Amino acid sequence: MKGRTIAVTGKGGTGKSVIASLMITQLAKKYPGEILAIDADSAMSLPYTLGIKAEPEKTITAMRRSIVGRDDVKKKMNNKPMREVIRDVVHKGDGYDLLLMGRPEEPGCYCAVNDLLRHGMGMLVEDYRISVVDGEAGPEQINRRVLKDLDTLLVVSDMSARSLETARGIVEIALANENGISVRRAGLILNRVRDDAPLQDLVDRVGVPVLGTIPEDAVLNKYDREGMPLRELPGDCPAVLAVQKILDGILGNA
Ligand SMILES: Nc1ncnc2c1ncn2[C@@H]1O[C@H](COP(=O)(O)OP(=O)(O)OP(=O)(O)O)[C@@H](O)[C@H]1O
Ligand SMILES: [Mg+2]
Repeated sequence: MKGRTIAVTGKGGTGKSVIASLMITQLAKKYPGEILAIDADSAMSLPYTLGIKAEPEKTITAMRRSIVGRDDVKKKMNNKPMREVIRDVVHKGDGYDLLLMGRPEEPGCYCAVNDLLRHGMGMLVEDYRISVVDGEAGPEQINRRVLKDLDTLLVVSDMSARSLETARGIVEIALANENGISVRRAGLILNRVRDDAPLQDLVDRVGVPVLGTIPEDAVLNKYDREGMPLRELPGDCPAVLAVQKILDGILGNA
């Protein structure tokens, strides 16, 4: 089965990049060379959490800039399939490839170029078994329309009522399949769960599917704070095990 897509979104600071990185690392070990990581957050923190050096100018935004208003570039591109054009900005990681979206668009209308790039990205994900998108905070992930079709949208929330409310809103917007985006499955990932939290109570009140929970993990937090690549986390770390379980649930025997 090829071309499955998982996107991670949620309120700022809830753990999106950490969770996306753990997923990418685990999937890249299981399916080396068949995984695409997409950093759709303009802060571009995925290279950091993955521990990969990325060229800041190798992004979709930089590519768009070079296309807009440059007839010579456009002409050159006409002779090349869009999928190959996008391949030029893909970074190579350890068992996975990485695509950086870059900063959001500058003012001006690049609709035609954006459509083309989106089309190219849609084709690019078909070249991989699984793509994992680290999204921007909030529904912008959906609004920016990085991908037209998503298999699974994971909305990360911590255990605060406010974060849960934001997350519920995103899940509902996603499942409405508006904005021309189709999301097959969307649900919450409850992150930084502690034993003392009245979990079930909160979950019942939220009223949208919960696709997984990840405990507060001191070792993960230490690695992240000190800038150590998360792929070096011990395999028996609670967060690593929890992400494994979530992936098994989402992907089945894929
Ligand atoms: N399960 C966890 N246990 C302990 N610490 C965690 C856990 N998940 C995330 N963190 C910590 O929370 C902080 C925020 O995580 P992260 O950068 O992944 O959030 P984000 O949602 O991507 O943020 P942003 O919205 O800024 O992109 C980090 O310091 C990270 O180490
Ligand atoms: Mg992030």
